Amino acid sequence: MLLKLLGGTAGGFATYILGNYIIEKRSCKPLDIEVTRQPNIPVFGVNILPVIGAFFRALPESTRKKLINTQNAPKSMKLEDWFDVFGKDPYKIEEIVPGKVWSVEFKFVSHFAFDPEAEKAMKMLGLDLSSEEGRNTILEAAELWRGQQGVEQAKKDIAESIRVNELIKEKGKCPETIAELPSIVYMGVVKLNNGEVLLYSPVKVRDETGFSEWLNNIGPVKWVVVGSSSHTLQLPEVITKFPEANYVVPMTVWEKIKHLKDLKLKTAPDYDYTNPEELANLNTLLANEGVSLYHVNGDTITEAMVVKAHGTALECDLIYTRPNGEVFNENQTAWTRLYNLALCKKPTSPNNALPPYRFWLMDPTCDLSLMQSVRPKNDGSSCTDMADSLRTVLKEDFDHAIGVHTGPIPGDDFKESLNLNWNWLDGKSLLQPKN
Ligand SMILES: [Fe+2]
Repeated sequence: MLLKLLGGTAGGFATYILGNYIIEKRSCKPLDIEVTRQPNIPVFGVNILPVIGAFFRALPESTRKKLINTQNAPKSMKLEDWFDVFGKDPYKIEEIVPGKVWSVEFKFVSHFAFDPEAEKAMKMLGLDLSSEEGRNTILEAAELWRGQQGVEQAKKDIAESIRVNELIKEKGKCPETIAELPSIVYMGVVKLNNGEVLLYSPVKVRDETGFSEWLNNIGPVKWVVVGSSSHTLQLPEVITKFPEANYVVPMTVWEKIKHLKDLKLKTAPDYDYTNPEELANLNTLLANEGVSLYHVNGDTITEAMVVKAHGTALECDLIYTRPNGEVFNENQTAWTRLYNLALCKKPTSPNNALPPYRFWLMDPTCDLSLMQSVRPKNDGSSCTDMADSLRTVLKEDFDHAIGVHTGPIPGDDFKESLNLNWNWLDGKSLLQPKN
């Protein structure tokens, strides 16, 4: 009897999950742009992504969010940088606005070069050097973009990347292999008009290399603003170093990092910038300090925050392809060139600028979009919300910009790049018409 009841209950639950999946998928508005490459999670040759999608769609929203944030919690309080491994200064400082804005380049150990799951993830995203099909896609993209010259460079880059992958398989994680694939990000440092210091998308602040002293000489760090909910690996060390600062982050970040047992955390962030009221209060408070903050509403994967500081845009995770067709910045490596060809160029990229996963995660019909903390709205309005937010940012004038992945770039380049990557959102230019 009990077995029958359990069987009936389980059967009823499965029927509910399936029914809910079919009904909800039908009600979701697909993107207006065609995305040929779609994600899949193969298990014994069968794509189980629809099963995962059905499960997540059946969960109450708060439970789904909780599961995802727990899953995405950082695994460690510490991130290894170039000083930890090689004893070398990991920072390079560049003054952007004299006495007011600085860009800090930070070199650290790639966290996915040595992750056995990363290769599988990159294959799903569309960068697969191990298959002939994957390599041919790269060569096709190179041919389309730069003709025979591009193909020759791509062949060299494929050979170089395979060499590094083999070396990592042979030697594992060691100084020799770490040196092959450094990771670099850029932090913005801003001196407010009242003398306080704001860190944008912060990196860890070390005492050993003189960096901490340099920062102290500018002023007290009172504000820490996260640029993207996907950039939190260094935040625990920043919070430990500056426990008294005001933390301006999306709630998703707090919900992720609270799982670190050794981290002393306030019960809530000082400002959840995804809350329009809290953001408005903050902008009022900082109105005379030379900074204004813009949450990019609708951006599901990164919940991006753009800051305007003394005429400089501070940006994270919004710019991939630049007006010259390269991704990120001029420090091109074999890996960045292959990432560009495999993901950000035709035939794989739907708009010849962004990788397919940025489209998947904005698409409510795509099951993968359920596997992030903020899911796109079923009526498709996340795209129009994001376009509206970016237009608000682009109404501003910018002399310079600092991108977490681009480093310092001219203000016009920032505006053009945002439009180039995101004007597909509602099919219209994000830029103001020129008078
Ligand atoms: Fe990023």
